[in-house]
Amino acid sequence: MRSVDLGFAYKLVPARDGGAPAPVLLLHGTGGDESDLLPLGEALAPGAALLSPRGKVLENGMPRFFRRLAEGVFDLKDVEARAHELADFVQGARELHHLGEARPIAVGFSNGANIAAAMLLLRPEVLGGAILFRAMVPIVPATPPDLGGIRVFLGAGRRDPIASPAETDRLSGLLKEAGASVTVQWADAGHSLTAGDVEAAKAWLG
Ligand code: MLT
Repeated sequence: MRSVDLGFAYKLVPARDGGAPAPVLLLHGTGGDESDLLPLGEALAPGAALLSPRGKVLENGMPRFFRRLAEGVFDLKDVEARAHELADFVQGARELHHLGEARPIAVGFSNGANIAAAMLLLRPEVLGGAILFRAMVPIVPATPPDLGGIRVFLGAGRRDPIASPAETDRLSGLLKEAGASVTVQWADAGHSLTAGDVEAAKAWLG
């Protein structure tokens, strides 16, 4: 079989009969990899195809999806370039693996949520929706995208020192301005994901 290089290391779990029609794009946090979120994807959307790339930027050996200059200070040029690179990967993987007509729903945590938000803002045609756990505003696009018809779930922690409540409000506002339908779910938690976050996101996904 001819191997096609899509430019990312990734795992693909094919859809099972009766699984959700939209594939799920899993985007890990800093220091994670392509295996990390597979159980989360299966819990949120049982039987859906799971596409899980590994971030290509290394920070002290830890994979990420874009470069940062310090905690919460992002290299905006890199955010932009990496969002396009990942968007192209998603399109290529959909075609290569025959993932169907429905656009993927991104599920991202922390740095993975931030690159998913960047993709929504810079390449609004790629995703069908997104579940963003502990996300921040990754970039403010020069031209506001049209996110009409796109649903976004923001899972935020009231005591999150990294993705602060103010950041959540900013991101929610930016996405709403672009026409997305945004649900913010507040957990009484910090930056780490809780069982309650997963339950709420699953209910939202329906
Ligand atoms: C992280 O540690 O991943 C940050 O909090 C979020 C980011 O840098 O994108």
